[in-house]
Order: sequence, then structure tokens, then C-alpha cells
Amino acid sequence: MKFFIVVLPGDGVGPEVVAEGVKALGAVGTTFGHDFQLGYGLIGAAVFELQRTALPQTTLEMCKRCDAILLGAVGEPKWEDPTVKVRPEFGYGLTRLRKELGLFANLRPVRLYPALVDSTNLKPEVVNGVDFILVRELTGGIYFAEPKRTWQTPEGRQAVDTLIYSEKEIERIIRVGFKLARSRRKKLTSVDKFQILQSSELWRQVAEELAREYPDVQLEHMLVDACAMRIIQRPTEFDVIVTENLFGDILSDEASMLAGSMGMMPSASLAGIPQEGRRLFGLYEPIHGSSPHRAGQNVANPIATVLSVAMMLRYSFGLTKEAQIVEAAVDAVLSEGYRTYDIMDEGKIRVGTKEMGDLIAGKVANWSPRIGAS
Ligand code: IPM
Ligand code: MG
Repeated sequence: MKFFIVVLPGDGVGPEVVAEGVKALGAVGTTFGHDFQLGYGLIGAAVFELQRTALPQTTLEMCKRCDAILLGAVGEPKWEDPTVKVRPEFGYGLTRLRKELGLFANLRPVRLYPALVDSTNLKPEVVNGVDFILVRELTGGIYFAEPKRTWQTPEGRQAVDTLIYSEKEIERIIRVGFKLARSRRKKLTSVDKFQILQSSELWRQVAEELAREYPDVQLEHMLVDACAMRIIQRPTEFDVIVTENLFGDILSDEASMLAGSMGMMPSASLAGIPQEGRRLFGLYEPIHGSSPHRAGQNVANPIATVLSVAMMLRYSFGLTKEAQIVEAAVDAVLSEGYRTYDIMDEGKIRVGTKEMGDLIAGKVANWSPRIGAS
């Protein structure tokens, strides 16, 4: 099959990790006979330097015409000084890209590969078997709503951000949670701040109303602060978590520690509700940032990007088997003891970004239906 993918390497370590994601995709294409056509585009701080926009119109147009997008990372500390007058637009163009493309459903799987069970900051018995998906609402809430501004008053400056959600926005994201839970262990945790926020009250009501359509799924509600604790205390109890934009942003960084490193956490941002056999337009990216101090040193962990490619195969191309093979290749390479710096442990073999990418692509290319990833 033929697919057109827009590749946006972005800033910092973005280009390095994306190159390894593309390598894995290439191995899938050659091994299983798919035609992946790539087009490269600009986004982030680097393009802002030249064009005074972090998301050029040409990039946006390209993205509107493709089957899926693979993104590295955006961000450069030099523009993060709040006193600088002309700065890249909010989120370095990334949040605008998500919004313009209607990518409301952000899936962040948190899975601890068995080979890394002793490599996290938590006790092995707490993290062993961690496998849940955090579903984050991505195009609404406090990230986007107006008013959003800072102004001068006689008493000093004031600033406002607005948290607003419509019933429709809540319904479609909670539906994503229910659908995913139905295809997994049938438990959905809806996270809010019910006692304080009106938007959370509506969120909880909509979740309860929808639950009637999914009697086979167990729905629980959890306050965001309690959830932050529970994620560390008893992480294996979660199956699918669904929450609003900012809560999801924060909880997903926290949850990444359960997977061993941010470098192990992929993501998919989808324009629809995932369902077996349905191909959705989506943007795929590692959840880590541009990590500028590590850029150009061939040290960043490319696994989050490679696993994002696996998600692309699954959700945008309907290539479930190929997605599983990429994940099995990652599993096999980790089991053999290869590690990038962020997941390095005693007695393991330290490799760089490129080497890790080569090892994974090699497993995909040598995949055999009888022996699995060899
Ligand atoms: C993420 C990031 C982004 C976000 C930033 C880069 C705008 O932290 O994808 O989690 O806040 O959504
Ligand atoms: Mg974040």
C-alpha cells in the first residue's frame, strides 16, 4: 500500500530521533512491501529564526494533504526568556498545528518493557507490568480558550487564561477512552477536579451519561491530585485514563517515569475516534522535548520516536501486524541489553541514537513469522 507522510524534524534532538523513526519505517516498507512516500517540512525555533513564524503556511498546507505526520520536537531555550519581545508563537507552532488539523485525541501509552523493570526510579515490584494509555484532550481547555492575555492595572500586571469545554468536546474524547478501554482490560479512569471546576462537573456528567452506552466498561472518576499520587503508588491498576488538556500534559510527564524514561514514551494525536479497521489522520511524536543540550551528539534515545512510528502504522495505516513487529523489535533489542544513556544500567551495552535505530531496523528487516524478531 502507498502512504504519504510529512516529516517535521524540528529542533534540538528532533532531527536525530526522527531519522531513526524514518529508518524503522523504511525497514517496514521494504520488508512488507509498502510504499511510504516522505515529504519534509519546517517547524519550530529553527524556522522562526528565518521566517519569524514557527509554523509556515507551506508546512501547514503540506500537513493538510498527507496521510500522517511524524514530528521530532520543537523548542529552543533562547526564546523562552519572557522578556524577549518577538518570540515564537505559543508552543512553537505545535499547538497551532494540532488545533488547525483537529487532532483532539492524544494517546500516550505508558508501557514498561520487561527488560527495563530494574531501570526506573521506582521499585520493580511497583512498576512491573505497567501498561496503560493516557488519553489527553488536545485541542481545547486552557491551552486555547479566550480571553488569554496579560494587561496592566493600577496595582500592577494581571494575566488571564480561560478554561472552557463544550459538551461535544468532552463527549468525543471520553468516547475515545471508552473505545480504547473496550479493546483492552475494560477499565476507564476519568480524571477531573470536580469539587472546584465547573468544567470538571460537566466533564463528570458527560462521562456518566456515556457510560450507559458502554456497560461492559468499568468507569471510575478520580481527582487529578489523587491520580498524580496513584500513578506512582499503584500504577498497574490503570488501564485507560482520560483527562483534559493541561491535566493530561502534566500527568503524562509524570507517567513517563514508569516507562523508564521520557525517551520511551511515544504519542499519537488523532483527528477521530480509533476503531479496529479504521484509518485516522494523525500526528505522531515522542513526548520528550527538543533537549537542546544533547543535540548533535548522537546520544538521544530514538525509541519514543520509533514507537510513535508503530502507532502511525496502527492508527493511520491500519497495519496492526507491522506495528506489533516494530514493538517486538524494540523489545528484542532491549532484551539483548542495548541501552541509550537515559536507560543505561550496570552490565548493559551503551549505544548511541544511530546505533539504537540500526539495531531496531535490523530486527524489523530480519523479522520472520516463525521466530519473531531475531
Ligand atoms: C507536550 C508538550 C507541549 C504541550 C508543548 C511543547 C507545547 O509539553 O506535547 O506535552 O504542552 O502540549
Ligand atoms: Mg508536555
